[in-house]
Amino acid sequence: MPVPGPGYSITVRVDAPPSASAAGDLTTAVGKVGGVLTAFDVVGSDADAIVVDITANVASADHAEDITTALNALPGVQVRKVSDRTFLMHLGGKLEVSPKVALKNRDDLSRAYTPGVARVCQAIAANPEDARRLTIKRNTVAVVSDGSAVLGLGNIGPGAALPVMEGKAALFKKFADVDAWPVCLDTQDTEEIIRTVRALAPVYAGINLEDIAAPRCFEIEARLRDQLDIPVFHDDQHGTAIVVMAALRNALRVVEKDIENCRVVVSGVGAAGSAIIRLLLRRNPADVVAVDIDGIVHTGRNNMDPNLRWVAEHTNADGMTGSLHEALAGADVFIGVSAPNLFGAEQVATMNDDPVVFALANPDPEIDPIEAQQHAAVVATGRSDYPNQINNVLAFPGVFRGLLDAHARDIDDEMLLAAANAVADVVDDRLNASFIVPSVFDNAVAPAVAEAVKSAAMQATGDKEAK
Ligand SMILES: NC(=O)c1ccc[n+]([C@@H]2O[C@H](COP(=O)([O-])OP(=O)(O)OC[C@H]3O[C@@H](n4cnc5c(N)ncnc54)[C@H](O)[C@@H]3O)[C@@H](O)[C@H]2O)c1
Repeated sequence: MPVPGPGYSITVRVDAPPSASAAGDLTTAVGKVGGVLTAFDVVGSDADAIVVDITANVASADHAEDITTALNALPGVQVRKVSDRTFLMHLGGKLEVSPKVALKNRDDLSRAYTPGVARVCQAIAANPEDARRLTIKRNTVAVVSDGSAVLGLGNIGPGAALPVMEGKAALFKKFADVDAWPVCLDTQDTEEIIRTVRALAPVYAGINLEDIAAPRCFEIEARLRDQLDIPVFHDDQHGTAIVVMAALRNALRVVEKDIENCRVVVSGVGAAGSAIIRLLLRRNPADVVAVDIDGIVHTGRNNMDPNLRWVAEHTNADGMTGSLHEALAGADVFIGVSAPNLFGAEQVATMNDDPVVFALANPDPEIDPIEAQQHAAVVATGRSDYPNQINNVLAFPGVFRGLLDAHARDIDDEMLLAAANAVADVVDDRLNASFIVPSVFDNAVAPAVAEAVKSAAMQATGDKEAK
């Protein structure tokens, strides 16, 4: 059931009588139908009427309609227009290109463009590595999507994916001063995506793959990593895995358990689940039991794709079979990146003492967090309206800042784990069951992640050169 929030905020412009009670009547009418009033501005006035902009958070289009109807029903009040503030924010897009150099006179032109620029081109032709020093490549990342798995909206295509990719680019800039650019491709063919990204790579110092459906995303990422000399990172996989690992480290501190003694159930073996499992295994948990739509993943299953087979071969040491509910019995940790409403408090009660439950399916988690709290010691979700939000913004800006600063050519698990530790460490002594990850607006996060990733990337380069 959606609740009013800033993601759906409307401004209603009304004509109202200039009476002393007008403001109270208008705000009461909005409140009575459940709108959350956030602003009230008188934008015009004369002897007969006032013009008021009323801004409110609503839950849905129907709810917005209820508010308009309630305002129109007031004596002497007439709604002039209703604006959706989210759409207003997206008008004309959310990004622009702006030059970093002054172009005030002929001399400036001769240096920024021809003829002066030719010498810079020649320098790069002679030494291609100079592109990182002398062009936007130094600080630019491509946010590449084919629009096949956008948010929870599914395969809506590249044009419809663009607002998300623009938003992602805006977050890169805001949190880590990375110049990211959306690249939405009008193809969902694996070979064509790989070929296209290869062809556009010279401009970029990193590739952030985004909202590309599993299992295609695994092959695209692996082959691009193989073919390109810049890091390739699929945020839906590794951004999620980093923040989950950070949250898990701190959750286990809260319940005073060692990962080596924990059995972890991971529900969902798609983009997010697979990456979480791979990183989790690097921490040597007692066991990981993966569950997907067909139940517990085990080596006896038929028709597994290479990703699922890898997971089957590296998890479930006891060869469990059955359902998620069976997997949960006796488990220490549940990590869900799968589907809504898969279990209830009674299944949490079957877990080991002080269980940790991360129910991250969006927008509706695997278990209602309030229900989970009945038996779980720590609960996290992907939602911003509950404590402990697992949000990839904690990871990807700092990860790319660190990679760019290190001039990294690739990315490995050590860098992902370094990023996870950095996110976890920011919490420090503020740790408690409702604060296992820092706020996304904590200014310490991105620099800490960047530093950790840079140092791990430089270490990896040094190790390679030493060989
Ligand atoms: N930060 C976050 O909170 C965060 C990050 C990434 C993904 N997610 C959420 O996790 C979910 C999965 O994302 P994804 O990109 O990995 O999707 P995906 O489509 O790649 O994978 C989904 C997986 O869930 C499994 N699944 C589906 N129904 C199931 C069921 N009833 N029981 C058990 N498993 C089931 C599928 O078999 C598949 O393995 C989405 O809801 C997404 O919004 C949250």
